[in-house]
Amino acid sequence: MPLLEQTRRRLAVLKTASHPRSVGDAWGTKRCGPPASRGSQKAGYVLDRPSRNSSSVRVAMEQQDGSVALQRNSEVNWDEFDAGSYFEHNYASIRADDREILEFLRDELRARREISKNVAVLDIGTGTNLYPLLLTLPWAGSIDAVEYSVGGVSWLRDAITSYGPEWDAYWAVLAENEPWRGVGNPRKRLAEVTSVQQGSIFDLPSDRYDFGSMFFVAESLTEDVEEYRSALHAFLGAVKPGGTIVGAFMENSTGYDVAHRPFPAVPIDEATLRDSLAENVARLVVQHLDIPDDEQLRPGYTGMLIAVGTRT
Ligand SMILES: C[S@@+](CC[C@H](N)C(=O)[O-])C[C@H]1O[C@@H](n2cnc3c(N)ncnc32)[C@H](O)[C@@H]1O
Repeated sequence: MPLLEQTRRRLAVLKTASHPRSVGDAWGTKRCGPPASRGSQKAGYVLDRPSRNSSSVRVAMEQQDGSVALQRNSEVNWDEFDAGSYFEHNYASIRADDREILEFLRDELRARREISKNVAVLDIGTGTNLYPLLLTLPWAGSIDAVEYSVGGVSWLRDAITSYGPEWDAYWAVLAENEPWRGVGNPRKRLAEVTSVQQGSIFDLPSDRYDFGSMFFVAESLTEDVEEYRSALHAFLGAVKPGGTIVGAFMENSTGYDVAHRPFPAVPIDEATLRDSLAENVARLVVQHLDIPDDEQLRPGYTGMLIAVGTRT
């Protein structure tokens, strides 16, 4: 794409970006993210932003002092997040990496026998990914699927009533073993226990949940590493001490497109992730997943990181 056109696109994104919005959130709490800061963490001018699901390029604007403006969560118009397109691209058929994530988490959670029954579960930034919810079904008394974008909330409300056949392949991976096999009808059970809510990670209540999951959210909602840390902190804070946390993160992601619109990411590695979890998570296991063979040549991220632990 010619540089001029890239610059126009970036300007268009900035123009349509929303300012901090007060979502009619589920808990009536206030957004507690840090004040907006324009970063000086990145030097240079043109940033390539291809990712797991994109090969396009976005341009970050150079500031007067030569640093690059980092896009923060409130500067993105999340209502432009095209849920249908995101689902089609990422989850309409099961990918090798998602199968691997499920297998790893299935075996890891089975080994952690302390998770009790009928617990309160949170999945934050659910988007169009139902497998984190399916993962917690054997233990869940209730699941709050909290999503920020209007389109994502609407997609989820439809999907939860009776999810599509695409998700049977994901369930099949889990149902190879107990306790998933014993769930009976997962479609019916998911509809019974799940409540879809619109809300922000920065507005989550403290110490509310026994089990928290977050898949590709804290590092995929901002370009600012401090805001990533703040999002992660808010997620961990929503889980009670002793509760179980599960997280999946893109490694070294430089952003992603959904239906040709660019969305931000913070490039984090395993050391950054471990460091940001260290203070609040015990019994931490982090698993690195390589990029699947059929995507070896696609730039934009270097793998995925899956974390499981106990909130301290
Ligand atoms: C890369 S998608 C991940 C979606 C899904 N969890 C998955 O595994 O594919 C990032 C998600 O974060 C959500 N998001 C963006 N800002 C958010 C915020 N402040 N609070 C909660 N979720 C947010 C987006 O709407 C989107 O669904």
